[in-house]
Amino acid sequence: MFNKPGAKSASKKKILLSGIKPTGQAHIGNYFGAMKQFVNLQNSGNYECYLFIADYHALNLVQDASKMRRLTQELVLDFLAIGLDPKKSIIFKQSDVPAHTELAWIFDTIVTMPYLMRAHAYKDAEAKNKELNVGTFNYPVLMAADILLYNTDVVPVGSDQKQHVEYARDIAEKFNYTFRNETFKLPEPLIIPNVATVPGIDGRKMSKSYNNTIPLFATREEIIKAVMSIVTDAGLGAIGPDGKPSDGIPQNVYAIHKLFKSEAELKPLYEANKGKYKVLKDALVEDIDAFVKPLREKRAELSKKAEKVVAKVLADGAKRANKVASQKLEEVKRAVGVV
Ligand code: ADP
Ligand code: TRP
Repeated sequence: MFNKPGAKSASKKKILLSGIKPTGQAHIGNYFGAMKQFVNLQNSGNYECYLFIADYHALNLVQDASKMRRLTQELVLDFLAIGLDPKKSIIFKQSDVPAHTELAWIFDTIVTMPYLMRAHAYKDAEAKNKELNVGTFNYPVLMAADILLYNTDVVPVGSDQKQHVEYARDIAEKFNYTFRNETFKLPEPLIIPNVATVPGIDGRKMSKSYNNTIPLFATREEIIKAVMSIVTDAGLGAIGPDGKPSDGIPQNVYAIHKLFKSEAELKPLYEANKGKYKVLKDALVEDIDAFVKPLREKRAELSKKAEKVVAKVLADGAKRANKVASQKLEEVKRAVGVV
């Protein structure tokens, strides 16, 4: 019913799934690393897309009810503003589909603690001597349940999530082996090399947790503020866009700029303005603003009727996701013998 004319029938389509945590303002790293692929692949007509708000994952970080509600609503608006279409994709909230946490429990019984202790996220937290909650330790198990419930073929994510997709594959194999069946399909990550890690304004990975982002729906003023704070590191020995030493070319500015303009256009501009950081940053502001403006306007329009729009999208999405997920969970329950 939701297929475009001429699109592949639902049964021939590959299944795509990805989630984003409602933990803060979406930024251009989220967009170029993951969200843009959601839109392109949705519009290709080749995928049945499940895109969800990972609110139970976010609960490890956001422990304030009104903030959780606000961030969830905002992320749904972000999804719609970038072009995700609830008629083409199943857009839902993780907590609306109880099969996710139920399957995570079943996986908990076959996943070992030493295996989870090898996860990057766990090791990073340990290295910082943070006291970890069980939800964070168990994060990859819930994520495996998210992915495996829908017979997912591909998971578009940024490179920081690659290990989590590998965990989902391992858990699927272990389940199939333990219960001697073929319940789960092995998913593949889909990572676009050029944008696997978008740098932030300080040169580290752009991340909500590092306070180094350029928000995806930034106002012009916010764009100017962020761009003017990009750390310029074009001192002696810096490497230029052609891979050769290139003094006077601010690497971080260039790395962000190439998300918005082709390198063929950028190289002459940067060569002609070596050392003129203000000129280059001004050009970057213009290019980001030209890109963000229509998104910002669409989002502002949608937010006028935010509550109604979001409630409808999530209610429809929950119904459709539950239908698929509850069937899979029944299959799993039979495989382990609880029904
Ligand atoms: P953050 O690190 O800002 O909290 P999330 O963990 O919410 O970001 O990530 C949501 C999605 O965006 C994931 O698929 C993640 O891999 C991708 N992503 C986040 N930051 C970047 C980045 N700097 N470059 C590329 N992809 C990113
Ligand atoms: N862990 C992902 C992130 O931090 C969010 C996420 C949760 C996810 N479940 C998922 C991504 C399933 C892809 C598939 O960005």
